[in-house]
Amino acid sequence: MKPKPVKKAVFPVAGLGTRFLPATKASPKEMLPVVDKPLIQYAAEEAVNAGIDELIFVTSNSKRAIPDHFDKNFQLETELEKKGKTDILKVVQNIVPANVTCVYIRQAEALGLGHAVLCAQRVVGNNPFAVILADDLINTNEKGVLEQMISVYDEHGCSILGVEEVPPAETDKYGIVDPEDTNGRISHVRQIVEKPAPEDARSNMAVVGRYILNPTIFNHLENIPSGAGGEIQLTDAIEQLLYDERVLAYRFEGKRYDCGSKLGYLQATVEYALMHPELREEFLEYLEMEFGQKLKEGKWAIND
Ligand code: G1P
Repeated sequence: MKPKPVKKAVFPVAGLGTRFLPATKASPKEMLPVVDKPLIQYAAEEAVNAGIDELIFVTSNSKRAIPDHFDKNFQLETELEKKGKTDILKVVQNIVPANVTCVYIRQAEALGLGHAVLCAQRVVGNNPFAVILADDLINTNEKGVLEQMISVYDEHGCSILGVEEVPPAETDKYGIVDPEDTNGRISHVRQIVEKPAPEDARSNMAVVGRYILNPTIFNHLENIPSGAGGEIQLTDAIEQLLYDERVLAYRFEGKRYDCGSKLGYLQATVEYALMHPELREEFLEYLEMEFGQKLKEGKWAIND
């Protein structure tokens, strides 16, 4: 039997963004722009391109900029229209297509990723759904990562985790899976552990911000105690799910940028600028002129 289609995506966006302070003191980390679009928009576009038509944001009191971003802005649109700036008017009017619904749920307390997903239970109902962490920005050639994962879901009908190999010393930053029966990009998950120390990790295969989950995950989210960092961990609920159901890890095609870290964010900014049709040429010229020779000679410094 064909599984139900994946039409809903949950975006946990209530986190404090402490790694980016003070930039994230008054504005959400998901609104940090990479070139000209905020991270949350890249995530929403990836979902919409995968056929999702309901975007569920689990948000908090300091994140009002997110609903504003996806809402209509009459004043801005009137001004742009008056000034005849039709191209940019279209851009602000079409942040998400008209058939897509946005739902906002408030997570009153920062109790962890698992708790954030549990907050979406009523809206998700008895349907499979995606979870996207917007600070994992993933660039792909053709199909977005969520679209790739939904194809795998359509075939197998079980929960799918987006994974990639990370440096073995960094396992303590991620949910780490113990993969078995690997066939191409797909493995069975034997075990999953949240942020194991490198010496305890069974592999270096890390979950990076993309999940397709069966609604049975909610039974476990409701019952698990707090885990790593004193938070309700999605990873722990997935580990429980493994006793009842098959879960697959999917090694996606694409390059991930950890935009929750300053270095990853800078790398994304430079590389997305180098892919941007209006900026590419000039930016490349600037980088070559300003840094090319100096970098080769190891002489780059602010006063050089
Ligand atoms: C969260 C998850 C972790 C996952 C990571 C991906 O951790 O808990 O399992 O590997 O996202 O980015 P966080 O980065 O919120 O600490």
